[in-house]
Amino acid sequence: MTNFAPPPGTSDIMPEEIGIWHFMENAAHKVFRLYGYGEIRTPVLEFTEVFIHGLGSETDVVRKEMYTLKDRGGRDLTLRPEGTAGIIRALCATDIFAGSDKKVYYMGPMFRGERPAAGRKRQFHQIGVENAGRILPEFDAECIFMFMHYLQEVGIEGHSLLMSTRATPEDRKPAEKALNEYFSSHISEMCEDCKTRLERNIWRILDCKNPQCAPFISETPDMLGYFGDDSRRHFEKVCSLLDRMNVKYKVEPRLVRGLDYYVHTVFEVTHPGLGAQNALAGGGRYRIRPSGAKKEVEGIGFAAGMERLVMALQNHGTHTQEAPFAYVAPLCAEAVLPCLETAKGLRLANLSTVAEYDPRSLKSALRAAGRISAKFAIVAGENELEKSSFLCKDMKSGTQKEFSMSEIVAQLISQI
Ligand code: HAM
Repeated sequence: MTNFAPPPGTSDIMPEEIGIWHFMENAAHKVFRLYGYGEIRTPVLEFTEVFIHGLGSETDVVRKEMYTLKDRGGRDLTLRPEGTAGIIRALCATDIFAGSDKKVYYMGPMFRGERPAAGRKRQFHQIGVENAGRILPEFDAECIFMFMHYLQEVGIEGHSLLMSTRATPEDRKPAEKALNEYFSSHISEMCEDCKTRLERNIWRILDCKNPQCAPFISETPDMLGYFGDDSRRHFEKVCSLLDRMNVKYKVEPRLVRGLDYYVHTVFEVTHPGLGAQNALAGGGRYRIRPSGAKKEVEGIGFAAGMERLVMALQNHGTHTQEAPFAYVAPLCAEAVLPCLETAKGLRLANLSTVAEYDPRSLKSALRAAGRISAKFAIVAGENELEKSSFLCKDMKSGTQKEFSMSEIVAQLISQI
């Protein structure tokens, strides 16, 4: 380690930057609770099989991107690359199989060993939701609408919603056959990864970003027409409900998403301010059967990348942390204790206060108060101590007043 940078693909989020994160998190608490969701916190470390089972062993995330380790007891553990699989594992310990639904939201760090780029990190953060145990298309539409509501709440505009369906595994068979016929006749001109995908999981070809494959992918036959009636009905219903709720979207038949647990509805929200990694959020309906569970759990959910939300939000102004109410500093050694007492009183009265405990000059105290944009600078030197008072300067108007040491907290409260 030659400098103080964190590992590649990770970042420090400093106090000056945290305001916008709190703003996004507070909006999530507010909006998701309006829809009856409660917050869930699951471990960052899960048994590796949770993800192999949950996301599919052929997904890029499982094959190439997981941070996996053995603990001292020889257990295979993985830093969660996403939230859904661990949450469904946790919900299996509830009464979910007795027919009760679970609506949960979460936020926190996820880990994927990807090549770092703008908007693509190895430790990133997601805000997400899962509504597990309900299979009606109305919940798909509600979930998508909830994310649109969230974007409106935080003030993000200019995004696009892309919709598609993965159908059910049974209904996918004829589409898979058509895909196979189509790609088999072009595979010799496509990339090496796609050659493997043709054998192992043909749908992954639609996700290939290699320019060599793009012309063939763009000519893929429309898969929606190959899906069975039930799958088509589910998708049409979700789209008609979105129309009804005035949500604008574009049907993108080649949207398959990178995880294998999806059935029926899948969607992505893109934003033009994000550059190449333009997905602000992605989600859909899924079926997961954690190992040991009696049956599959079906749900609908999404996750938004918080770093990407910040990028999209910064096009619309910044959210800085609130400046402190007071800056308190002694101008001589005898004033240290009165400063400590007053800072304590202000904080217990819910007034944010930055205090210094080494004596300094009046000039340097006022400069420091200005630097942190404190509303009031409160200082005491020998003159003030003689009168048992503090000098208090309103940093905006420049007016100065003296307050007795015993009453300063009450006096300042009365001025708010
Ligand atoms: P995902 O599409 O893999 O879905 O990730 C969701 C979002 O997380 C992406 O749209 C992107 O904003 C962000 N994201 C993903 N990888 C990175 C990265 N390396 N760096 C920065 N941001 C990233 C899921 O994770 C599913 N669990 C979503 C879901 C929930 N589906 C159903 N329920």
